[in-house]
Amino acid sequence: MSNLSITSVDVNTFPEFDTHKRVLRIEDSASGLLAFISIHNTNRGPAIGGTRYWHYQKEEDALRDSLRLSRAMTYKCAIAEVSFGGAKGVILAPKDGEGDKDAILTAYAKALAELGEPFYTGEDVGLNEHDIQILEQHSNTIVGRPKVGGLPARWAALSVFYAMEGALAMQTGSASFEGKKIAIKGLGGVGIDLCALLEKTGAKLIGADIVPERIERALKNHPTIEIVDSAIIHTIESDIYSPCAMGNEFNKDTIPNLKTKIICGAANNQLTTQEDGQALFEAGILYVPDYVANAGGLISVADELHPLGYSQERVESDIKRIRNTVEKIIETSIRDSIPTGEVADALAEERFQKTYD
Ligand code: NAI
Repeated sequence: MSNLSITSVDVNTFPEFDTHKRVLRIEDSASGLLAFISIHNTNRGPAIGGTRYWHYQKEEDALRDSLRLSRAMTYKCAIAEVSFGGAKGVILAPKDGEGDKDAILTAYAKALAELGEPFYTGEDVGLNEHDIQILEQHSNTIVGRPKVGGLPARWAALSVFYAMEGALAMQTGSASFEGKKIAIKGLGGVGIDLCALLEKTGAKLIGADIVPERIERALKNHPTIEIVDSAIIHTIESDIYSPCAMGNEFNKDTIPNLKTKIICGAANNQLTTQEDGQALFEAGILYVPDYVANAGGLISVADELHPLGYSQERVESDIKRIRNTVEKIIETSIRDSIPTGEVADALAEERFQKTYD
């Protein structure tokens, strides 16, 4: 017997999130599932976005995360020119060692068919390939499937790489990485693939992580990488600083200590507030908006839904276009003297505020 309940959440008490199309609270008492699915905007097409599996102190924190992340997905879809709208799933994971993750994911996957509209979802923080396989067994709206496009990290790394090329070309007149110092914070899925792409270009790599196994793996695969303490990597002199760990990296405390010329990385929500974008602009540091740089992952998972089936060639060429998008954003930022983040947001809004048939 199903113990599933799906209820609409009134988000009027969160004025910053008043533009969401639908916000749903999903509960299944049998498995212990408690989740939020926020659908921000579907003007460009059906809802798409990852599902996060995370232990939150308060239910409201999870709701806020789903609201914030789903809105960002709408911007990312529009910038990446994929025909989807932004959404996000957030599952409130039990404390470590408690609960049955497979049962929770099974209940979540079954609930996806009950939303009344498609929500294409896949890996985000806290989900791995095994988890995607569980979801896939019980839902036909799972993307980033191991036997199709695979986990999106390597595609996010490729888009960061092209975004870096665009930024370098605009700042120095050449997209060459030869001899450039590139500092990467976070040597996880995206960071390690980014190292592999950059190593072939003659760039000098500097890396940091807080997990010793990640550092060992980086040193084994890329023996020339210089490892530094993760607490100070943002203060190292570099041509490009690439945040590939967690968000909220730049604020009034960290920005004055930066000694880089370009910021371009995969981590979501790098700026703590919009004012931080202005501060970077005033400091003469070229910031490539996070959701522009990391859109490769989305491009790959969205391609799994292409009517003609997944094409790696198409994914690669769509990701390559990010370099042009970055150059266009920087050009406008210089011309109009406004931070790159604001230029990207305006471009995205222009695209998703139109209604598509
Ligand atoms: P991951 O979890 O595989 O790697 C993150 C790495 O950062 C881990 O090795 C972790 O130990 C390290 N880390 C965490 N805190 C740190 C700190 N304070 N200092 C140094 N290292 C630290 O995650 P993944 O997939 O590589 O993603 C990286 C970032 O990019 C995340 O913010 C993610 O949300 C974002 N992103 C990932 C995409 C993907 O397809 N995987 C797509 C778009 C964005």
